[in-house]
Amino acid sequence: MKEKKSSKSPIILAIESSCDDTSCAISVNGVVRANIVANQTVHKNYGGVVPELASRAHLSHIIPVVDAAIKEAGIKISDLNAIAFTQGPGLLGSLIVGNQFAKGLAVALDLPLIAINHMEAHILAHFIDAPIPSFPFLNLTVSGGHTELVIMHDYFQQDLIGQTLDDAAGEAFDKCGKMLGLPYPSGPEIDKLAKAGEIKFNFPTARVGEFEFSFSGLKTSVMYFLKRNLEKDPDFIHKEINNIAASVQDAIVKTLVNKTLKAAKRHQLKQIAVSGGVSVNSELRNQMINACGDIGAELFLAAPKYCTDNAAMIAMAAHFKYLKSDFCSLKTSAEPRLSRQF
Ligand SMILES: Nc1ncnc2c1ncn2[C@@H]1O[C@H](COP(=O)(O)OP(=O)(O)O)[C@@H](O)[C@H]1O
Ligand SMILES: [Mg+2]
Repeated sequence: MKEKKSSKSPIILAIESSCDDTSCAISVNGVVRANIVANQTVHKNYGGVVPELASRAHLSHIIPVVDAAIKEAGIKISDLNAIAFTQGPGLLGSLIVGNQFAKGLAVALDLPLIAINHMEAHILAHFIDAPIPSFPFLNLTVSGGHTELVIMHDYFQQDLIGQTLDDAAGEAFDKCGKMLGLPYPSGPEIDKLAKAGEIKFNFPTARVGEFEFSFSGLKTSVMYFLKRNLEKDPDFIHKEINNIAASVQDAIVKTLVNKTLKAAKRHQLKQIAVSGGVSVNSELRNQMINACGDIGAELFLAAPKYCTDNAAMIAMAAHFKYLKSDFCSLKTSAEPRLSRQF
């Protein structure tokens, strides 16, 4: 597809639909003018995202979300220079909705198409608002599907130095929350409950490689802990919910903070950024602020609306790709397991 009107200050429409949030953002020369997100409440009672329901909800949300973004940005559709979309990783059915919608729009408007990796976009969310990190920096991405430590050398050049061997940090929050009877996603619920609790219970941390993570053992230990205590007192969860939440949260957060700080020291990096949905967690933010203060590292935490899934981060990543004329063809399909080059 040809570039209709090359611009040094491109106006980009970006779509994110990798999981259960339908989002559209508009950026003007790298400045986000609109970022509309429609959450899907339909999954609340299932304890996780139901893929079939997610793609159906994307189908009904996508047109209103795109319309709202164009209206909020105060632009005309004819002002656009490119269309961007999340290519992967994510749920196939969800990705296909954004992918096909973006292609349709690009063809109709004769505009170039930009394919974005969702994981790269989470990191590039740090470039939406000041202060922005400078290269190289260490980034911890923590979401419902991923837990990764990468060194960022440039916008699209990174080294993976550690990741989870099993569950992601957000998944650990969500699965522990499910055992406690909390609605999905449980991360924000545990965060709230923990504020009125104490770290009263001790949950083990996994012994894995230095910069690797593993949260499946925590999930099992919470399960047996609850079973043991519920046998003695059927009202145990109700009575101790705040303390359990604080203890589970601390076990997850401590591991994330310790490993990130150790990696920063090892690689002599003085800038640390945290991205992804779990980076909204207030305890993670507090512990990171304190730990970075202790070693004199600069910490970058994006605004919460740019941490959880959103199209503003897709627009930001697309802006940097547009400047390199890194466009994709109409044959580019949704890739649920899209990988990156390390
Ligand atoms: N305040 C919070 N504390 C802990 N976890 C949170 C918080 N807010 C969101 N999360 C978690 O973030 C995850 C969603 O991350 P996000 O990047 O939006 O989606 P995805 O995993 O689909 O990329 C969920 O597991 C959710 O529980
Ligand atoms: Mg995400």
